[in-house]
Amino acid sequence: MVTDRIALITGVSRERGLGYETAKQLKDIGFTVVITARDYDKVRTLADQIGAIAKPLDVTSDASVAAIARELDDEFGRLDVLINNAGAFFDFGGNPLTADMQFVKDALDTNLLGAWRVIQALYPLLEKSDAARIVNVSSGAGSFSDPVFGLGYHFSKVPVYAITKLALNGLTVKLATETKDSPIKINSVDPGFTATYSAAEKWGARPVSEGAKGIVWAATLPDDGPTGGFFRDGQPLGW
Ligand SMILES: NC(=O)c1ccc[n+]([C@@H]2O[C@H](COP(=O)([O-])OP(=O)(O)OC[C@H]3O[C@@H](n4cnc5c(N)ncnc54)[C@H](OP(=O)(O)O)[C@@H]3O)[C@@H](O)[C@H]2O)c1
Repeated sequence: MVTDRIALITGVSRERGLGYETAKQLKDIGFTVVITARDYDKVRTLADQIGAIAKPLDVTSDASVAAIARELDDEFGRLDVLINNAGAFFDFGGNPLTADMQFVKDALDTNLLGAWRVIQALYPLLEKSDAARIVNVSSGAGSFSDPVFGLGYHFSKVPVYAITKLALNGLTVKLATETKDSPIKINSVDPGFTATYSAAEKWGARPVSEGAKGIVWAATLPDDGPTGGFFRDGQPLGW
């Protein structure tokens, strides 16, 4: 059944991932949710579990992104919420002096250009919503303010990943400036250190349901809500 509000989430291939949990929470509050992943079998299995709609989407592929834009246009004619959740290339222990440049390009292609590409392609559909929201799932690793994982701190041993998220935050600001006179709101959200992998749980990461709440918050902002910001749990974060 198609309900009033339609949301699309990228990078939903794992039951334990933030994308799947975000999809569940949006379904629970009445959204029609389209979940996407580059592996269609995986996303279809997940979609079946929660009554979502599955579609294949590789955010690094212009053709794949164009195809989903066409399909959404044909099926719904608009989009209310876009959540750019796809992200990877967590180069733990990496070193910018020796980082492989192909790895850097691939990381940027997914974490920065992936979101950018999808926003450009789906923007005409978001413009047809009366209150569109875009959420770029970022990370404290890409900020100067996070005292544990942030740029310049000891645990920020994920240089390539961190730089892609820093750039993603820049994209959020530039797009928000460009769209400030429209009803569209676009924000970056850091879900916090979240137990989407069992190793993270051992290091004290919080439950996935908590990390996803801040994403849902930004996806459901009221008309007087913020745009162009960076948030965790609905609270502003330093850049
Ligand atoms: N967990 C945390 O503590 C934490 C903290 C801060 C930020 N984040 C961010 O939260 C988001 C979700 O992460 P997660 O922890 O839930 O891990 P995850 O389950 O690994 O989520 C990342 C998703 O991105 C997908 N992806 C990678 N390349 C893609 C591409 N080219 N096209 C489409 N999808 C692609 C992956 O799919 P495949 O299976 O196909 O690779 C996977 O489904 C990421 O952006 C991450 O940077 C997580």
